[in-house]
Amino acid sequence: MIVDKNIEKEIDSAATAHLYYVMKHKLIFCEPHNFSTVQYMNSKNVRNQVKFNDLLYKRIFSLYKEGVFLDLGVGPGFLEFINIKNSRKLQLSTVEWETQVDCFKSIRNSFGVVVNYLCSDILSDDFKIHECETYYDYVILQRFFPVYKTPSLERTELVLKKLVPYAKYALVVESDSNWSEEQYEYILNITETRTKVFGEWNIFKINLEQFK
Ligand SMILES: C[S@@+](CC[C@H](N)C(=O)[O-])C[C@H]1O[C@@H](n2cnc3c(N)ncnc32)[C@H](O)[C@@H]1O
Repeated sequence: MIVDKNIEKEIDSAATAHLYYVMKHKLIFCEPHNFSTVQYMNSKNVRNQVKFNDLLYKRIFSLYKEGVFLDLGVGPGFLEFINIKNSRKLQLSTVEWETQVDCFKSIRNSFGVVVNYLCSDILSDDFKIHECETYYDYVILQRFFPVYKTPSLERTELVLKKLVPYAKYALVVESDSNWSEEQYEYILNITETRTKVFGEWNIFKINLEQFK
């Protein structure tokens, strides 16, 4: 997909919708864990994410197109937006954290992306994806903070273990520079295949059955 004039318009409208939403609901965005979600008022940022997700979609489609996917921490829904533009060729369901679901809703609505499931905090002992009864082939964790923004390897493993009931593989989409040296070594050890998307960004395919 080329980001043509029509897509440019959709990107600008989504960023503007988010700007108005943030202005109208300032208090939500004053919560420290919601600060970073204001970034989508910036259409340049949205455009970059859309372009990146176009590449990501192509990689995922060419490697794993037969699978059924769950996008955990769907956020603004960039990958889903690209899937919609490609006539929904990927079987993709979406999950968002109940605490943060409203922070991205203006962008998702603008893109026509829906949230299929809500989940609790993945760091809580009783993590659950509510009403999810499907066992997926792949759970996608793109820029998913809890898996990499941690000083401990234990937490990365804890997060991955929580996903064992929901999918066979995790596809962790992250930049090499976001891992510490120790984390990177660990993640490569548990990864079956690593596929480059763009620059330092890779897809780490991790078999979750190793955590059973
Ligand atoms: C940086 S956003 C990434 C959004 C999207 N995957 C993307 O790449 O555009 C991080 C996502 O992780 C989710 N998330 C962060 N902390 C979480 C937690 N403790 N439990 C569940 N989800 C969490 C957020 O709600 C958000 O959807």
